[in-house]
Order: sequence, then C-alpha cells, then structure tokens
Amino acid sequence: MSKTKGYFLVITLSAYICLLFAQASAAPETENNCIQCHEFIRGQMGKPVFQWYGSSHQIEGITCDQCHGGNPDIEIEDFPALSPDALRNLSKRAMYAEPSFVGAPSGQAQFELCATCHPEATETYTASIMGQAFLLKKGGPSCTQCHGAHRNVIPPVPKSCTSCHQDTTGYERLEAMNISEETVRELSRIRIQIAGEKVAGKGPLFQQHLESFEAGIVSWGMVLVLFLAAVGLHWLVERRHK
Ligand code: HEC
Ligand code: HEC
Ligand code: HEC
Ligand code: HEC
Ligand code: HEC
Repeated sequence: MSKTKGYFLVITLSAYICLLFAQASAAPETENNCIQCHEFIRGQMGKPVFQWYGSSHQIEGITCDQCHGGNPDIEIEDFPALSPDALRNLSKRAMYAEPSFVGAPSGQAQFELCATCHPEATETYTASIMGQAFLLKKGGPSCTQCHGAHRNVIPPVPKSCTSCHQDTTGYERLEAMNISEETVRELSRIRIQIAGEKVAGKGPLFQQHLESFEAGIVSWGMVLVLFLAAVGLHWLVERRHK
C-alpha cells in the first residue's frame, strides 16, 4: 500500500469513529421507568413508546410523565429480571399511587394539557367550529385525532379529513385549525374559483380540437389541389394526342 493511501485510510477511519461518538452523545437521555416498562410490555400499551420515538416531542425531550403525570424517577437496576409481582408493584407506584397520574387525557382535559405548551394553537382551535363541535360532543375531532397523541405529525389535508367529510374540495386552501363562519363563506368562493379553473383547464383541449380541425381542412385542400392538377394534366395529355 502506498503512503498516501495509508494516510487516507487513517483519516477516514478516525472521521468514522468521531461520527459514531457524535451520534451516541446525541441520543436522547430520557430513559425512565415509563419508557422502560411500556417498551417492555409492547402490544397496545407499548405502541405509544414506538410512536413517540423520533417525534418532535421526543426530540424536544417531552417525556411521558409531562403529559400523563406519575413518577418516572423510580430507578430499576435490571428491568428484564423483574418478576410479574415486582412489575405490578412498580406500575402501581409509578402510576396509580401518584396523585399526579392522569391516564389518557380526553375532552376538555386534553385541551388544557396541550395548552400548557401550545397556548395559541389551542386558543385558535377552541374558538373554531370544529373545536366547539368537539367540546360540545357533536363529533368534532380532538387534537390527537388529527395530530396523533404520540407521533405528533402535521396531518395531510384533505386526506385526514375524509373520515368525517365527503366533499373536501378546496380544503387544502383552508387553515384546518381555524374553521369559522367566515371560512365557510370563503370555502364557497374557493369552490367557485376551482370550478372556474377547471373550465379554463378545458382551454387547451378546445385548442387541440381546433388545431386538428385546421389540419383536416389543410389536408382536404391538398387532396383537392392534387385532384385538380391531375385533371389538368389529363386534359393536357388528351390535347397532345389529338
Ligand atoms: C412496571 C410497568 C409500568 C411502568 C413503570 C409504567 N407503566 Fe403505564 N401501564 C402499564 C400497564 C401494564 C398498563 C395497562 C394496564 C393498567 O392500566 O394498569 C399501563 C397503562 C398506562 C396508561 C394508560 C392508562 C389509561 O387509563 O388508559 C398510561 C397513560 C400510562 N400507563 C403511562 C405511564 C407513565 C406516564 C409512566 C411513568 C410515570 C408509566 N406508565 C409507568 C405498565 C407500566
Ligand atoms: C404530548 C403529550 C403526550 C406524551 C409526551 C405522551 N403521551 Fe401518551 N397520550 C397522550 C394523550 C393526549 C393520550 C390520549 C389519546 C387519545 O385519546 O387520543 C395518550 C394516550 C396514552 C395511552 C393510552 C393508549 C390507549 O390505546 O389506550 C398510553 C398507554 C400512553 N399514552 C402512554 C404513553 C407513554 C408510555 C409515553 C412516553 C413514551 C407517552 N404516552 C407520551 C399524550 C401524550
Ligand atoms: C410540555 C410541553 C408540551 C406539551 C404538554 C405538548 N407539546 Fe406539542 N410540542 C412541544 C414542543 C417543545 C414542540 C416542538 C417545538 C414546536 O414546534 O413548538 C412541540 C411540537 C408539537 C407539534 C408540531 C409537530 C411538527 O412536526 O411540527 C404538534 C402538532 C404538537 N406539538 C401537538 C401537541 C398536542 C396535540 C399536544 C397535546 C396532546 C401537545 N403538543 C402537548 C411541547 C409540548
Ligand atoms: C382538523 C385537524 C386538526 C385539529 C383537530 C387540530 N389541528 Fe393542529 N394542525 C392541523 C394542521 C393541518 C396543521 C398545519 C397547518 C396549520 O398550521 O394550519 C396544524 C398545526 C399545529 C401546530 C403547529 C403549528 C403551530 O401553529 O404552531 C400545533 C402546535 C398544533 N397544530 C396543535 C394543535 C392542538 C393543541 C390542537 C387541539 C387543541 C390541534 N392542533 C387540533 C390540524 C389540526
Ligand atoms: C372527527 C371528525 C372530523 C374530522 C376528522 C374533520 N372534521 Fe371538519 N367538521 C367536523 C364536524 C362535526 C363539523 C361541524 C359540522 C357542523 O356543525 O355543521 C366540521 C366542520 C367543518 C367545516 C365547516 C362546515 C362544513 O361542513 O363545511 C370545515 C370547512 C371543516 N370541518 C374542515 C375540515 C378539515 C380541513 C379537516 C381535515 C384537516 C376536517 N374538517 C376534519 C368533523 C370533522
């Protein structure tokens, strides 16, 4: 191996090792008993952990207990070695024995929870038609119906709306969290506009028809000219023979 090749190998290797260390130190230090146990039990009760991993909340260090309460700080040495009894005991201590434990927040309590960190978004949604329809139990979506409780995604519009709305034309041009009487009026204007755009969209198609019509006239014209030329030629030849 040449000397330069050797240097290259050393530099690449050390860069790779640095990268590994950087990744290890960037890993979230949010391991606690809520995460450990729920990851361990898997199934329906474990799903939240796997959805939460990689979410904007997990990246910002928002842990289970910040939304659900309980005591996340009971330390466990060797988690997988715990007996079923020890697990039950631990879950009682971490969750139900804690007055702060709220379980799965729904209704008004869910809005209050989200409002602690997202006051503006919650205020906007509470004042909207759908927010009111949720609070009055008239079928409006909760925050988590659109965003998910643990993955916290921005829902695709209008795909996420089709479970409750049949005609979602123009929904992608609305502010989903701020639907008001004014928005409903705006929606009819948007729909008229979209209908107009569709008619205008027929323009090129009509142009195509026109163009093929013109091409038709031109080619029939050519046939006519050729026919007349042939007739003329025939006439000339006939005259010569005479
Ligand atoms: C030793 C295991 C264990 C630990 C530790 C644990 N949990 Fe649980 N958790 C469970 C089990 C099992 C269930 C489902 C059965 C039940 O409700 O007891 C559950 C249920 C839940 C529920 C659903 C409750 C409902 O009403 O639907 C939430 C929310 C929850 N846990 C959050 C937490 C939080 C937050 C922590 C940490 C402070 C935590 N858990 C710690 C095992 C655990
Ligand atoms: C940003 C707040 C938030 C965080 C962080 C959060 N949760 Fe939740 N969780 C909720 C809400 C809200 C619900 C109720 C969901 C609903 O009804 O749509 C819920 C529901 C649950 C449930 C009940 C699910 C079911 O199917 O009945 C469990 C279990 C749970 N969470 C566990 C956890 C665990 C474990 C963590 C940490 C890895 C966690 N949650 C982090 C807000 C949060
Ligand atoms: C303890 C604070 C806290 C609570 C409680 C909380 N969040 Fe968040 N949330 C954050 C932070 C921090 C971010 C990341 C920075 C930002 O976008 O504001 C975030 C981001 C988000 C985002 C943006 C996601 C994205 O990809 O842009 C959504 C949506 C969201 N949260 C919804 C909720 C909902 C719904 C609830 C209630 C169930 C909730 N949050 C409760 C702190 C919180
Ligand atoms: C009908 C579906 C829907 C519901 C219900 C909903 N959101 Fe949203 N949310 C969206 C969409 C779509 C966006 C992204 C576009 C936008 O900002 O309008 C968004 C954006 C957000 C953001 C990030 C942008 C910002 O404004 O900071 C947060 C945080 C948020 N929502 C929190 C909440 C909370 C809290 C609730 C309940 C009180 C809630 N959402 C209810 C659809 C919804
Ligand atoms: C869980 C069901 C549900 C979901 C999901 C949902 N909506 Fe709604 N929406 C409602 C209800 C209920 C009303 C109130 C109907 C009423 O009072 O006439 C409503 C009203 C509306 C209105 C005003 C009235 C109308 O029918 O035109 C608009 C606009 C709207 N929603 C847009 C959206 C958008 C955009 C989304 C997706 C981001 C969405 N909705 C998702 C239930 C839902």
